[in-house]
Amino acid sequence: MTTTPLLRLDGISKSFGKVTVARDLTLSVQPGEALGIVGPNGAGKSTLFAMIAGDLRPDSGAVWLEGRQVTGVPPHARTRAGIGRTFQVPRPFEHLTVFENVLVCAHQGAALKGRRAQAHAMNVLERTGLAEVANTPAGRLALLPRKRLEVARALGTGPRLLLLDEVAGGLTEPEVLELVAVVKDLHAEGLGIVWIEHVVHALIRTVGRMICLAGGDVVADGEPLRVLADRRVRELYLGAGPETGLPGEEEGS
Ligand SMILES: Nc1ncnc2c1ncn2[C@@H]1O[C@H](COP(=O)(O)OP(=O)(O)OP(=O)(O)O)[C@@H](O)[C@H]1O
Ligand SMILES: [Mg+2]
Repeated sequence: MTTTPLLRLDGISKSFGKVTVARDLTLSVQPGEALGIVGPNGAGKSTLFAMIAGDLRPDSGAVWLEGRQVTGVPPHARTRAGIGRTFQVPRPFEHLTVFENVLVCAHQGAALKGRRAQAHAMNVLERTGLAEVANTPAGRLALLPRKRLEVARALGTGPRLLLLDEVAGGLTEPEVLELVAVVKDLHAEGLGIVWIEHVVHALIRTVGRMICLAGGDVVADGEPLRVLADRRVRELYLGAGPETGLPGEEEGS
């Protein structure tokens, strides 16, 4: 018996002028799966999220969520349908408190009201380690809690598919590990996760499968260490600094 994928991209193509960021790309994510996406800067990773979340429409191809075509469905309706996303550059309501930021998502995304919305928002703050700063305005947060809040806002919408776009970017090593612990817990709860990340070791710790996007194509897809050991993937990352955490040949092979 085959299960309906949580997410399916069916022959997606997208170009900006002469730059092709997706070329007849087909990809499925199963319910509860954690998929990592790596690829060089400008490969089209965030654009892929924009097409999944509904901010951009593919030139051709279709997006399916749990067996339902959502290609032309606007972002707010996709949020209600179960897609929660973070943005590469955090986008909280700066003047609202951390709690209020998540409460807005509980109202608008998860369609919760009153006490149920408040309880959901508090629960999300606890799961993301933000309960202690619940009453702090988002604009006053340091980077780690700001990244946590980005995840919390996505969770506030009650997603079954969580899209994380470089939530570990710019964090110190101990902070990355704190964030990894949060994402691992979410995955353990059964949430489907797609995580774009340049901090590769964070992905290795978290995801069961990885793809590498480059030039509009999936150049490798499979078990994370195998993908990172792939010759084409290594060539794409040659010259990248050690902060990418790309494992050495001996680890990957
Ligand atoms: N709305 C847009 N209009 C025109 N070009 C765009 C638009 N969005 C993205 N691009 C271009 O598409 C390419 C892919 O961008 P995208 O942000 O998806 O890359 P990325 O893989 O997320 O890169 P990074 O790792 O740096 O975040 C880039 O060349 C970018 O300049
Ligand atoms: Mg990006």
